Amino acid sequence: MAEETVTIIDNTTGKRVDLPILRGTHGPAVFDVRKMYAELGMFTYDPGFVSTATCSSYITYIDGDTGILMYRGYPIEQLAAKSNYLEVCYLLLNGELPSTTQLQTFERNIGDHTMVHEGMRSFYRGFWHDAHPMAFLVGAVGAMSAFYHDSTDVSSPRHREISAHRLIAKMPTLAADSYKYSMGQPFNYPTNSLNYSENFLYMMFAVPTAPYEINPIHAKALNLILILHADHEQNASTSSVRLASSSLANPFASICAGIASLWGPAHGGANEAVIRTLNEIEDPKNIPKFIKRAKDKNDPYRLMGFGHRIYKNFDPRATLIRDACHELLDDMGVSDDPLFDTALELERIALEDDYFSERKLYPNVDFYSGIIMRAMGIPVNMFTVIFAMARTVGWIAQWMEMMDDPEQRIGRPRQLYVGHEKRDYIPIDKRP
Ligand code: ACO
Repeated sequence: MAEETVTIIDNTTGKRVDLPILRGTHGPAVFDVRKMYAELGMFTYDPGFVSTATCSSYITYIDGDTGILMYRGYPIEQLAAKSNYLEVCYLLLNGELPSTTQLQTFERNIGDHTMVHEGMRSFYRGFWHDAHPMAFLVGAVGAMSAFYHDSTDVSSPRHREISAHRLIAKMPTLAADSYKYSMGQPFNYPTNSLNYSENFLYMMFAVPTAPYEINPIHAKALNLILILHADHEQNASTSSVRLASSSLANPFASICAGIASLWGPAHGGANEAVIRTLNEIEDPKNIPKFIKRAKDKNDPYRLMGFGHRIYKNFDPRATLIRDACHELLDDMGVSDDPLFDTALELERIALEDDYFSERKLYPNVDFYSGIIMRAMGIPVNMFTVIFAMARTVGWIAQWMEMMDDPEQRIGRPRQLYVGHEKRDYIPIDKRP
């Protein structure tokens, strides 16, 4: 069969180039522009990568128009209902669901690495005590390159595997340490007899003065949050990891780039921003005022938790977490939480508003994850830390895939230069 192509013609010079069309399993085809510069002397221009695929990937598929999310081909709804976080980690990393023995081995490998070097805990004490826990986390994960430099040779598959296990295993410990340090409480050690979610809740909430009982409803809700956030193909933080590691930077430094990107309110920081918005709204009767601001072209204000670059119908993660949110609040007898009422009313009003429907702005996963975590007693400034903990496996799976990809090259975007033409240096006493 003849190769499918797209022809690009420069109408100014008449030069043309035929570019091959590549088709994946699902989703829009792409045309391969790699030879375009050589043949046409032109770059493509796409700020925000709206129409640009930066890699091919086997890991996660999203169809934003129909609200589909799949990890390695498995629909998120099935994984959320039937799996657990560590099994999903195995799936993302290895491409297949594990056998019983494979899962046991994986759990043992992760268990072997849950403790962090005692020196890291002293390292925490150097941070300013009441900084944001994300600031601690970004610093601590970056510092893992110093504490675990025996697994930073990215050309070694064994080093890559150990650093992957270390990151997945230690992230809950470091996340809980971030909270403990910000509270001035002693750090807890991980307990390997607990599952991933239970262990995190224990390390975060247990104090030496009283026994701590893990609430199974909370552990279940956290397991769901972790599964739903585990990967999301080439989002800003994942692309940051890929770009950082394309220079063959070590995995800890590269994951640190992902955490830094995730922190922003337009990305993972949105869950925290949602609660702040709901608190600011205070009462459902004030909602129209905030909607008006969000719609005002001259006001940069945005309604946090609404909108998504990819999902233009609904966010399947939001649907799952919305149901879990209702269940959790009912189970805990806090279904009359005024903040939840405000959230539901905000959702209703926004969904009925032409501005939001015309722009396909629907509540995203962060809209509900904040509410659910708040109901579990997790402080607002830990929301993005928990997102980072969940997403670590996605970043690692994407990094590992990239390291084995024969098409991988250092990431080096081009630009359209619109600055000054060449001009001569002016001595300081001659400048206007
Ligand atoms: N409130 C009000 N208006 C919005 C919002 C919002 N939350 N989001 C987008 N818009 C408007 C824009 O003003 C723009 O309007 P215009 O066409 O009249 O100029 C239009 O919708 C398209 O917006 P873009 O910024 O072009 O969309 P983009 O895909 O670049 O941004 C993003 C997506 C960053 C998620 C954006 O919707 C947003 O800022 N939302 C709030 C933050 C948020 O919830 N982030 C979490 C994302 S999910 C996650 O990371 C897990």
